[in-house]
Amino acid sequence: MELTDGYGRNINYLRLSVTDRCNMRCIYCMPSEGIRLLEHHEVLSYEELLLVARAAIANGIEKIRVTGGEPLVRKGIIRFLEQLAAIPGLRQLVLTTNGLALAEMAEPLRQAGVQRLNISLDSLQPETLARITRGADVNKVLAGIAAAERAGFPLKINMVVMRGINDAEILDFAALTLNRPITVRFIEYMPSIRSDGWQERVVAGESILEQIGRRYPFVAQERDGLAGPARIFRIDGAAGDFGIITPVTGHFCEDCNRIRVTASGRVRSCLFADNGLDLKPFLARGDQEGLAAALRSVVACKPKQHALVEQDNSYTSFAMAAIGG
Ligand code: GTP
Ligand code: 5AD
Ligand code: SF4
Repeated sequence: MELTDGYGRNINYLRLSVTDRCNMRCIYCMPSEGIRLLEHHEVLSYEELLLVARAAIANGIEKIRVTGGEPLVRKGIIRFLEQLAAIPGLRQLVLTTNGLALAEMAEPLRQAGVQRLNISLDSLQPETLARITRGADVNKVLAGIAAAERAGFPLKINMVVMRGINDAEILDFAALTLNRPITVRFIEYMPSIRSDGWQERVVAGESILEQIGRRYPFVAQERDGLAGPARIFRIDGAAGDFGIITPVTGHFCEDCNRIRVTASGRVRSCLFADNGLDLKPFLARGDQEGLAAALRSVVACKPKQHALVEQDNSYTSFAMAAIGG
């Protein structure tokens, strides 16, 4: 079975958020006062998450990315991932993390069947990373990245670029790909939390490419059918790749292949779409057919593109941690 939306897009990628909690508090993700955290009973249990995953896979999802908050802070996550990995029909199980827990967890994650990791790292400078994350230690993240490399994970590093905060480090991040087989992706800052003058902070993907191109020659790479929103390039002779993710200036919505399920069990057709459809009533009744129909109906209503593309302030503000990015 395939999931196809109203614009002919094939939806094969589910982003599944397992918690809204996080051990960082990134300035672009959370307001300084924090967010209203879900109560324990509002968060889907692992059994419920597995039911959602099974229904999604039976209806055409082939790739699941586990997200948060920070997925590795949820107790019992390794056992859950093992069960998820064992569902027949799932071709890719991948996870996005801030890296803080990887020094201890990289090896168990690999054993559990996670195939790739995306790690958020917005600065290589201790003070800058502490400023962006409101306190995290860059060395701890770097130790986590090293552990993930030792465990044999293919890695992507995500850097959210913000003018005046970390944009001076673009070439340093590009240089990380010269000798290591990793992918570094530069992400345009999205104003998910309402903030005046956010347009000033956005560094356009095209200008990132120009800046890298002035220093290093590079060529575009192919993308495969389960790929996320990045456009990928390789510096001549480099071991790894770099990419740009352009939610603000680009129109990757055209080949969007994904839906999201939040930790509270709402399916969202688009990151910026709406409040989503609540799956809990179907889960409470153990109604597999209802779950499948709910997923299909959300896919059918997927919007053509998100409102941010108009660069105005008409979108609804939300905490990324509650949705999973
Ligand atoms: P790959 O499967 O490795 O390509 O991962 P991915 O890029 O889909 O996932 P990741 O969790 O690393 O997210 C990277 C960035 O892309 C984050 O900033 C996400 O919020 C953003 N992103 C992913 N999907 C969408 C989307 O559908 N819309 C928007 N606006 N941003 C997205
Ligand atoms: N703009 C761009 N990227 C964001 N992420 C979280 N919030 C934002 C935002 N406002 C990124 C994180 C992580 C991924 C899941 O989403 O840095 O790499
Ligand atoms: Fe946590 Fe990721 Fe949000 Fe940062 S962006 S606070 S690491 S969920």
